[in-house]
Amino acid sequence: AFTHIHSRPTFSTRIMATSQDELKKLVGYKAVDDYVKSGMVVGLGTGSTAYYAVERVGEKLKSGELKDILAIPTSVRTKEQAESLGIPLVTLDTHSKLDVAIDGADEVDPELNLTKGGGGALFREKIVEVCADKFIVIVDESKLCDGLGPGFPIPVEIVPFCHEHTMRMIGNLPSCKGKCKPVLRLGSAANNKVDGDEPAVTDNGNYIVDLHFEEPIKDPTTMGKEIKNVVGVVEHGLFCGMSTAVIIAGSDGISVKE
Ligand code: 5RP
Repeated sequence: AFTHIHSRPTFSTRIMATSQDELKKLVGYKAVDDYVKSGMVVGLGTGSTAYYAVERVGEKLKSGELKDILAIPTSVRTKEQAESLGIPLVTLDTHSKLDVAIDGADEVDPELNLTKGGGGALFREKIVEVCADKFIVIVDESKLCDGLGPGFPIPVEIVPFCHEHTMRMIGNLPSCKGKCKPVLRLGSAANNKVDGDEPAVTDNGNYIVDLHFEEPIKDPTTMGKEIKNVVGVVEHGLFCGMSTAVIIAGSDGISVKE
């Protein structure tokens, strides 16, 4: 069964929050307030939680509380939001080192390994976030799990060419065979619910296959390496050993796990 973890937080405050959206806003704003300083190069994540971190950066630049920020967005959606807020943008081509990146996640395990890519932006998220000195993850408590897999399928970005073959190769890996069902994402890449008839296409022009597991993945690091080795795979949504801190908002407070 899929259960939530209740480990001891390193920091906790009482908050009065009523909706999941308010919780997302709380962690998004807190991440920017605690980790983003003037002069930094900042990675901007993708999704409904990261949205609030981007909003906060824009707000603080406008008020003058933050100065000289350069930001790198992790999707077309985030780029458009950042542009609409007047946040100065650069790319990894000119800035390979980021001070901090802030992003949401679909699941977080007790070792702070993540599943990402529910919003289809996993490749750009990973290429940016591995370059950050600090990677700050922002979630509400519904994202916490005992083990990655059964609570949320693992997204894998693959090239469209012979994608059925690539899906078979992934399904036959030692970590996957008999353990997961690979399903091609249809409809919008930004939504891992099937909401169309055609394959979902990412910002990079690729497809996404979602790996549905019934049992928790025992060794997500090894599984990630196996998947990455398949020719045709661009990147996978297992983000292992990357998180500096996870800021978690729950109905009874904000906690930080490091
Ligand atoms: C997008 C992602 C998102 O960070 C993840 O899906 C969480 O999104 P949300 O904050 O909307 O729940 O990985 O590719």
